[in-house]
This record gives sequence, structure tokens and C-alpha cells, in this order.
Amino acid sequence: MAEQLIIATSADKAEKYKTLIPQIEALVQEEKDVVANLSNTVAALRQTMNFFWVGFYLVKENQLVLGPFQGPIACTRINYGKGVCGTTWKEKKTILVPDVEEFPGHIACSSDSKSEIVLPAFKNDEVALVLDVDSDKLNDFDETDRHYLEQVMRIVEKFI
Ligand code: SME
Repeated sequence: MAEQLIIATSADKAEKYKTLIPQIEALVQEEKDVVANLSNTVAALRQTMNFFWVGFYLVKENQLVLGPFQGPIACTRINYGKGVCGTTWKEKKTILVPDVEEFPGHIACSSDSKSEIVLPAFKNDEVALVLDVDSDKLNDFDETDRHYLEQVMRIVEKFI
């Protein structure tokens, strides 16, 4: 297992993701434990991209339950169809929110959170978990984040 994460010094976020993604693949490759792999995945994302909050919510007993994350403490349970995370679960697709105030029903775990992207990962065609990334800046996520974070979700799907 890699002992140290190599982080691209480039200011270009696509370059950072391109350096990071093969390292996430390597990190999770030799470990079977889901919690260990989700934990290292969010830690690697936080370390590289410096996200304000990044974490997983796992589908358990018909709710989303907080899983491994990096950042301030957060809401522990989210219902189906509620907030950005619950809506991502319901609609089974990535949701990019440039301004959380504009998203009806957004759940504010932190008043510092201003924009957000949430992506689903699937197991047997059902959403098994979502990745939530929050920023303390408005309009902080774009198609580059969507593209590369979706690649991360495809890696996650191999071990969940
Ligand atoms: N904002 C999310 C809730 C999770 S926290 O931001 C960590 C939502 O609306 O689903």
C-alpha cells in the first residue's frame, strides 16, 4: 500500500484529480474492508482537493446514514428524497448545486456550506451510498469535478 500520497502541485484541478485517481485505485486494491477503503478514499480526496467537507452516506435500513468523512461534524441520518443527498438517492444521478440556498429542502449541516456536489454509487442497480462534497464557496464545483468524482465512484463500486 502507498505510504504517502503524491499531490500534483499544479493549480489545475483536473491535473490534481488525474494524479489522485490511480492512487485511490492502488490504495483500495489490496484491502477488502469497506469502511477502511471508504475512509482512505475520503482522506485522499480531502488531502488532495482541500474540500471543506467530504464524506459518504450509506443506505442502511431505508435511510442514508453518515459514514467515513473528513470535515466538521455532520447530520447522521437523511431520509429518502430529502436534501441533496436524499434526492441523489431518489433520482439515482449526480446533483451539482452551485448555491445551496437555491436548492429546495437543502439540509444545512453547516451554515458555512455554500455549494455542493453529490454522487451515487450503485450495487445491483440500486444506490448503495452517496459521496457528498461541500464547499464554503459559492459555485465551487463544475463538470471537471463531476467527471473525475464519477470515476472515483466507479472505483468505489468495485469494493462495496
Ligand atoms: N447538505 C446535505 C446534507 C449533508 S451535509 O451537507 C454534510 C443535503 O442537503 O443532503
